[in-house]
Amino acid sequence: MLSSCMTSTNQTANQSDSITQRVDSLLALMTIEEKVGQLNLYNGTWDFTGPVPADNNVQQKAENIRAGKVGAMLNVLTTAAIREAQEMAVENSRLGIPLLFGYDVVHGYRTMLPIPLAQASSWDANVALEGNKVAARESAAAGLNWVFSPMIDVSRDGRWGRIMESAGEDPFLSSIMAEAWIKGLQGDSLSDIETVAACAKHFAAYGYAEAGREYNSADISLQTLYNVVLPPFKAAVDAGAASFMNGFNDLSGVPVTASSLLQRDILKGQWGFKGFVVSDYNSIYELITHGYSPDSVTAALDAVTAGSDMDMESRIYENHLKTLIEEGKVPMSMLDDAAGRILRVKFQLGLFEDPYRYCNAEREKSTMLSDEHFTVARDAARKSIVLLKNEGNLLPLKPSQKIAVIGELASSNDIPLGSWRARATPNSAVSMLDGIEAATDASVSFAQGYQLTEGDRSFIYELNMAKPSTKGFAKARAIAAKADVVVLALGEDCFQSGEGRSQVDTGLKGNQEQLLKELLTVNPNVVVVLMNGRPLAIPEVLKNAPAVVEAWFGGSQAGHAIADVLYGAYNPSGKLPVSFPHHVGQEPIYYSHKNTGRPERNEMDKGLVFWSHYIDGPSDPLLPFGFGLSYSTFSYNGLAVVANQGGASVSIKVTNDSDISGRETVQLYIRDVYARETQPVKRLVDFIQVDIDGRQSVTVEFDLTEEQLGYFHTPAGDFYAEDGLFHIMVGGNSRDLMNQAVEVSF
Ligand code: NOJ
Repeated sequence: MLSSCMTSTNQTANQSDSITQRVDSLLALMTIEEKVGQLNLYNGTWDFTGPVPADNNVQQKAENIRAGKVGAMLNVLTTAAIREAQEMAVENSRLGIPLLFGYDVVHGYRTMLPIPLAQASSWDANVALEGNKVAARESAAAGLNWVFSPMIDVSRDGRWGRIMESAGEDPFLSSIMAEAWIKGLQGDSLSDIETVAACAKHFAAYGYAEAGREYNSADISLQTLYNVVLPPFKAAVDAGAASFMNGFNDLSGVPVTASSLLQRDILKGQWGFKGFVVSDYNSIYELITHGYSPDSVTAALDAVTAGSDMDMESRIYENHLKTLIEEGKVPMSMLDDAAGRILRVKFQLGLFEDPYRYCNAEREKSTMLSDEHFTVARDAARKSIVLLKNEGNLLPLKPSQKIAVIGELASSNDIPLGSWRARATPNSAVSMLDGIEAATDASVSFAQGYQLTEGDRSFIYELNMAKPSTKGFAKARAIAAKADVVVLALGEDCFQSGEGRSQVDTGLKGNQEQLLKELLTVNPNVVVVLMNGRPLAIPEVLKNAPAVVEAWFGGSQAGHAIADVLYGAYNPSGKLPVSFPHHVGQEPIYYSHKNTGRPERNEMDKGLVFWSHYIDGPSDPLLPFGFGLSYSTFSYNGLAVVANQGGASVSIKVTNDSDISGRETVQLYIRDVYARETQPVKRLVDFIQVDIDGRQSVTVEFDLTEEQLGYFHTPAGDFYAEDGLFHIMVGGNSRDLMNQAVEVSF
């Protein structure tokens, strides 16, 4: 065993040595222009995912590729188009260096997986791993060798549209998902033809956009940066991410594209990252708009000096880097380092052995949308569903019950695909209505009820919301009155979340709540199924509907997955990766907040206002992080925490008090009660998923170490734990926890 481990370690080391030698030999042959060319990322011509550059001269681009002045392209799609572009580079340029081809494969390429926020609701690394294996297989079969995912920005503000792309509010859960997403994309080796290079983004703190407004600045403390924002990115480096993307945002006064602290000191310095950093779309140019660099020459200097290796579409490196080198303002070693990092990934991908290895038209045809991929997508979608309420055990439905399915979202074959849908065929998802019809022989009727959006949905903004109309309500009420159970889909159009889609209001748009109330007057048995890309402020829905299911945007197989849960073919096991607010005014709301000096009303001051709260609404979330019900009921008993030198051992008995087998996610939180830098009231440090048969118990054990009990101290970022009192909390969500205090020394 030991010798086989050593052999594989040696092999990996040898491979990496030989790649380093090959990179160095190639760099020795390259001119300055050719090196700068490696740093240049062009958009393809037919799928812009950012502002279209005014000088999008296709002929000029082709000429530059032939001249070896381009290192990579994005949004070039299909093996045929990729082969054509690759040929331009390989057959014409002096050194024949192959191109990278990147694309936003955020939750699938043709087969859509649930949106990332939904996948995180599974709390199941396997869901992320298997899903991204499918995404990688399909992407690679389409000729791509690089994808711009995962997005691992910790996101705590439901107004921000890109929260749907994230793993939610918690750094630990985000780190687990980050690792799995990257391993799913990259497999064990980038040279495997079914894998692609991943890109961890956006480095860093983009999720902290002030007021949840897209592209807004982030102004956070070093404490938050080190302890909340960075851990998922460190996990991405440890998982071997081949590339990183910086971002559009300014972080505490420095746009991250120009941040040496992030890119040079932390990422490439402290963490030893060997891959390359790509800018976000035009973000090097935007250093000027930020008011950081006065002109494009300085923008080039600022970005490259800070460690942004590749320029996505701003053409600033293309135009200015050579002069900066010749003038001695950028050292050649810096250019060599940047170009070398990109070449290294190309070698790892095997592109020098065969630049067309991803361009097999036959493989492209046979790989997409296979039954196997649909099985993975369905399993991921059902594990992503979170049961939020189930009064009187209205769920699971019985196969004999007559069902009225209501809501525009219920019959949509498009909305479940989500907004980062890569090359999904429009209207190709299994709708909830399709899923329910396939799951039961009983009568199923349908009424649209409300209309959410109109016109061009993909560039939605407030004006595209349909004017609320009650035209469809009468039919909805009529079918509801005749049914045993109403299944009402409420939520958002998928294009209400995603890039550029922040909202000031995170409640339900239009007259959806009014419809719910009217339906309840004719039939009390209403199951609400939510489809949405952000935590919604829906206190009325939670109060009024007897059963509520969070289904997110579940991807290609969404409808079958929802039906699996509604009919009990799958016992729901998802847990929320974000807190849901009562009101948008509570955002950003997250469980891991500080205690403050005045957390509670002081009984002596009865009636006074001098404590941390709102005077017109609750401070607590509507639904806490980690929350999710099951058709089983679980109870927790006998928390035992025993301190040892440098940690503690924790055990707890979890019992399934029902007759139904189910899966529970047992969550471990800690609080460092007194510390030299104040700590959150709780912080997730571990979780274990257990399958428990009806009426059975299991004992779940955790080993708490300094790694979990410590924190990064500012300003230097040293990590260590402080001796003293800790609260150790275990339970099924971040609110309902057993708690034991313990003294630990390190
Ligand atoms: C801008 C987005 O911020 C980024 O995530 C994406 O990868 C690029 N556009 C490329 O489409």
